[in-house]
Amino acid sequence: MSRNKINWRVPKGAELTELDKKVLYFQNKGHLVPSRKLIKTPEQIEGIRKSGIINTGVLDLVAQEIHAGMSTAEIDKLVYDYTVSHGAIPAPLNYEGFPKSVCTSINEVVCHGIPSEEEILEEGDIINVDVSTILDGYYSDASRMFIIGKTTPEKEKLVRVAKECLEIGMQAAQPFGFVGDIGNAIEKHAKKNGFSVVRDLCGHGVGLEFHEEPDVEHFGRKGTGMLLVPGMVFTIEPMINMGTWEVFIDEEDGWTVVTEDEKPSAQWEHTFLMTEHGLEILTY
Ligand code: MF3
Ligand code: CO
Repeated sequence: MSRNKINWRVPKGAELTELDKKVLYFQNKGHLVPSRKLIKTPEQIEGIRKSGIINTGVLDLVAQEIHAGMSTAEIDKLVYDYTVSHGAIPAPLNYEGFPKSVCTSINEVVCHGIPSEEEILEEGDIINVDVSTILDGYYSDASRMFIIGKTTPEKEKLVRVAKECLEIGMQAAQPFGFVGDIGNAIEKHAKKNGFSVVRDLCGHGVGLEFHEEPDVEHFGRKGTGMLLVPGMVFTIEPMINMGTWEVFIDEEDGWTVVTEDEKPSAQWEHTFLMTEHGLEILTY
């Protein structure tokens, strides 16, 4: 195994805690381990949890209101108004120049779709609504799929399997396991169902910033990638394609990610806390 960065440092003369010993064991074997700042304090976890409650409130509101004939700009307004009226900030708004408060990604759009007055939801569409919230400086991030009216059995299966991929990824993440365990489980489930996994975008650490370490890839090998340590907070957000895994970015807006073959894509996301016993969902 190649030598990885020395992320876990113990101050000179400090007594080693049980956690130090455990993490150092893996680091000394050459594994990538988190830096200390990725281990959230109880106070930080409470902050992220409160942010997550608002984030879930936004998604519940969208679930109630979404319907055929609605524009994605109307979804954006719902998200903005709810978030701001609860004392929070929509994280996407002005994030690296993103112009709206939420990402709305319909059918062959994989992610980062920009809400628009011109884009009207139609019967049979599948749409991902990706909501991220900042409350008192703490970030949360989650997305769901919505089926508009009745869709085809194939698209229904895609939406279901993408959700199962998130759940299976969650089960695969164990304390003192590895990020690669998550992607491995997700990729297997997608392939078994005849679908592919997007490789260009991944989950991520979250909480004090929108995107932190580690990258959480939705494919890969067991026992590889960063060590999972209690106190880490990160998303899992598999993007599952009906056809090829390859994607491109719309040149006109510089954001919208679309499948190369323009077949549909589905994604579900939660923010998770790693505990002593496995993952806890912070965006339920
Ligand atoms: N919410 C996305 C994620 O899951 C990030 C969107 S960035 C934006 O990581 F600028 F497009 F909003
Ligand atoms: Co995310």
